Formats: sequence, C-alpha cells, structure tokens
Amino acid sequence: MAYSVFRSLLFGLEAERAHEWVTGSLALAQRSALLRRHWRRRWAIRDERLAQDLLGQRFANPVGLAAGFDKDARLVLALAAFGFGAVEIGTVTPQPQPGNPRPRLWRHPSERSLQNCLGFNSAGMEKVATRLAAVRERPVPLGVNLGKNRTTSQAAAQGDYEQLLRRFSTLADYFVLNVSSPNTPHLRQLQVPDFAQAVLAAAVEITAVPVLIKIAPDLPTAAAIELAEAAVEAGAAGIIATNTTTDYALLPGARPVGGLSGAVLREKSFALLQALGRAFAGRTILISVGGVDSAAEAYRRLRAGASLVQLYTALIYEGPRLAGRINRGLVDYLERDGFSCLSEAIGADL
Ligand SMILES: Cc1cc2nc3c(=O)[nH]c(=O)nc-3n(C[C@H](O)[C@H](O)[C@H](O)COP(=O)(O)O)c2cc1C
Repeated sequence: MAYSVFRSLLFGLEAERAHEWVTGSLALAQRSALLRRHWRRRWAIRDERLAQDLLGQRFANPVGLAAGFDKDARLVLALAAFGFGAVEIGTVTPQPQPGNPRPRLWRHPSERSLQNCLGFNSAGMEKVATRLAAVRERPVPLGVNLGKNRTTSQAAAQGDYEQLLRRFSTLADYFVLNVSSPNTPHLRQLQVPDFAQAVLAAAVEITAVPVLIKIAPDLPTAAAIELAEAAVEAGAAGIIATNTTTDYALLPGARPVGGLSGAVLREKSFALLQALGRAFAGRTILISVGGVDSAAEAYRRLRAGASLVQLYTALIYEGPRLAGRINRGLVDYLERDGFSCLSEAIGADL
C-alpha cells in the first residue's frame, strides 16, 4: 500500500493514538527477521561513499532518526531496517513519568509540521536499560538521549544526568544531554556554560562513551556558541542542533504551547547550524536536525558543516522510504559535485 493511503488512514486518528498504533504494530512486526530483511531490501541504501567513522562508530549513512520517536527503545531493530544510519532513543528519565496530560501532540499537515508538549513521557531508565540489554543485534549506532525528571529540582538536575550516564554506559554508542526540550519546566535554563561544564566534567569521569549536548533553536546565536564552546572545552564530543522551537510566530494558528518541529523550523535550525559550522568546523561533531525532509536539505546541512543529520517530523509525512530516498539523493549529489565520499562534502560551503 502506498504510504499516502496509509497516512490518510492514520491521520484520521488523533495524533498520539496514531503514534501508539504504529509503534505498537512495529514492535510486534520487527520480531520477524524475515520482515526486517524485507524492509532493509526495500528501503535501506548501502553505499560505501556515504559511510563515516565518527564518535568511535561506523555510520553507514548520515541520516539518523531523531530522539522522541522511540522514547522507550521499543523499535530499534525496525528503525535500523528502515535504513536510518543511526537511531537515537529517548529522552529517557531516571524514574518513570507519564508526561503532560493529553492531548499533547498535534499535526499541522499543510505546513508539514508537528507540535508537541509531551513532557518526557518515559518508561524510566530501568525498564529502558533492561530492554536495550536484551537487543542482541546492533545494526546501527545507538544514541541514548537523557533528560531529568520533572520533579527533580534544578539543583539536583546534574544528579539525574549522572545516574543515567552510569546506567546506560555499557548500552549506548553515544549519549545526548537533552537540556533543550521546552516541555519540562525550567529545563532550558540548564543551557548555560556553567551547567554544561559541570555535567560534562562529571560525564567524562563516569563513561568513555562520547557525550553530545542538544540545544534549542531559540537560543540567541552568541549564547549558543558560548554554550557549545563551554561544552566542547569540558569534553563534549559534539553538538546536536536543534530541538523544537517555541517561536510560535513561525506557524500562524499554532497553540502557544510546547514545541514546533518540521518544515516551519527548517530555516531557524539551518541558521544556527551555519553559525556553529563557522565557529566549530573541524573542532567538534555537529549533528543537524530540524526540518530535514529531503536529500537537498540533508546535503545543504552537510555542506554547512554537519557530519550527520537527523529527522523525526518528515518521517510522519513521508513514511518509511524516507531515509533511503535521502541517501540515494545524497549519492547523486556527491557524483554531481565530484566528491568521492561524503566526508569530502562536509563543510564544503563554509
Ligand atoms: C513528538 C515529538 C517528540 C519529541 N521528543 C523528543 C525527546 O524526547 N527528546 C529530544 O531530544 N527531542 C525530542 N523531539 C525533538 C526532535 O528530536 C527534533 O529535535 C525536532 O523535532 C526537530 O526535528 P524535525 O523537524 O525533523 O522533527 C521530539 C519531537 C517530536 C515531534
């Protein structure tokens, strides 16, 4: 069935119900090795020109799944079979928590955007870690995105991140400190050099796994660069830009709650990447996320200095072929521009 038909059925359901239905079905379906092989054959692209060694891992392609789609690590095998080059699970919190009351996820189809105020609904680290430990195959690098519990005070926030780093240190290929969700009160106030330095200094003592920090698109550029500088100095392996935006003016008619993602975020996310690319080229790993929905957009991000891209919202609108489609398009761009491999294109526009 063409995804557009499937999508119109799904879009008849309330957005979070549709998500639950799809993820529940995928969790069951991925148990079949035959089905996973079928998905991989249909959708995943293998081309050595797209591969990179980064963060101590082999990334077969640069298109990763962003955090939030698989918060509790139920779908790692399915998502890898869809052709993503990496899968980031989470955000995971230390204790289980339900998140905000529903409704808390809305579609804006004509703007190809989503709006959410989920608020870190999480099964909690014990359950997620146990589930990950049971996943024997590691078809792609696995990121674990970490956040504090809603009830944890700002003063105790660092302790939450430390607990999470300890619990997942043998299970993650890379970590992401999420200090940029708009849906946990005061979380974004942790986007300051002092906190980044303190938590990263602790992180490098706790784990040898690379730790990145994920930032909001709404930070003024100078503050974002200052924060990233502090993080890199304290040992961060990279920066993920960006989380969702609270700039509701980008989407007339949006409710003034939660964060916007997808096409309306695209230029804002790109502008921050460009600034980070200029400031950090060759010094740290940049991962660009926010409105990536095509090979052209992914290529623009890579040329602006991102080593990898991620997406979430476009998967909802475009379906499971998307990672493969972007990767195929990237190979075409590399050929067109005379690059023998992806890493030659990274930062080409800087
Ligand atoms: C429904 C939803 C839930 C999300 N949950 C998380 C999360 O738990 N942790 C996180 O770091 N980012 C989360 N994000 C943000 C995405 O990872 C990504 O940064 C953002 O959506 C921009 O990318 P996109 O335009 O491709 O969606 C979420 C996004 C959406 C749409």
